[in-house]
Amino acid sequence: MHHARFAPTESWFGLLSEEELEKLLLAGKIARVVRKAVPRMVFKGASVLQICEWVESEIIRMGGSPAFPCNVSINEVGAHYTSPPSDATVIPDGALVKVDLGVHIDGLIADTAVTVSVGSEFEDMIKAVELALERGVQAVRVGGKIGDVGPMVEKTIRSMGYKPIRNLTGHQIEQYTIHSGLSIPNVSGSEPLGKFQPWSVYAIEPFATLPKAIGEVREGMAGNILHLVKLKRPKAEPQRGAYEDIYRKFKTLPFARRWVACSGEAVEALLAERLLYEYPVLVEASGMPIAQSEHTVVTTDKESIVTT
Ligand code: CO
Repeated sequence: MHHARFAPTESWFGLLSEEELEKLLLAGKIARVVRKAVPRMVFKGASVLQICEWVESEIIRMGGSPAFPCNVSINEVGAHYTSPPSDATVIPDGALVKVDLGVHIDGLIADTAVTVSVGSEFEDMIKAVELALERGVQAVRVGGKIGDVGPMVEKTIRSMGYKPIRNLTGHQIEQYTIHSGLSIPNVSGSEPLGKFQPWSVYAIEPFATLPKAIGEVREGMAGNILHLVKLKRPKAEPQRGAYEDIYRKFKTLPFARRWVACSGEAVEALLAERLLYEYPVLVEASGMPIAQSEHTVVTTDKESIVTT
């Protein structure tokens, strides 16, 4: 197959072909369309399981694959909750609901999130985080400092009377890897982080909370999102079959218990052997509600494209 390579680069996406860029853009378009439809799915009494399944099935219907389970994180839960197989959770009255969704096409990923306020109490906090995102995204320029995003995001959120969550960050994305290891802080005062590279993919995602909050998240209960951490095929069944099934379907991308056909015992055994990791939910340390907004940005040699 013909791969027109665009440009030499030091980043992993040095081999970003025209075809791969198109897949990134298509993943972004699907993510955008689904995200825009999310608010009408989120209302008092709505089933969280139904929201997750609806988001994931829309992604598939439009030709993508979910890059991770749809996250529906309510109030003080900032991230990493998805429904277990028969989740009875419903959206409470007055809730602040973050829906974070990912789309991939052959491992080329778009990551985006929106916050919905059930009631009007948190509308301004959502506006603050959305404006912070808009400004943070503008700071993603090839050759620009990664460390410029944080002060911009923090200043915007504080100027509107809210507080950024200091230990939740944006991140660089690679093929089949939602978080490449490079974090993009949402506050000032970080160490130098280098510059934005051409032919790379970055997710910018500010989080805001109330000014009286601690403004940090801590790990909470398991959130039903898992991923393979070690590529080492177990010898014993049923773990071996489960491992192979998971690797074939998801590689190292996060997945939900809802998505696997293999037995619960096989999954538990893989967790016990530390071949699988289950993400804990991330909860605001003082129990205050969190709002989030997120876009994915792809850089070429001359421009930054918001794919979502
Ligand atoms: Co993200």
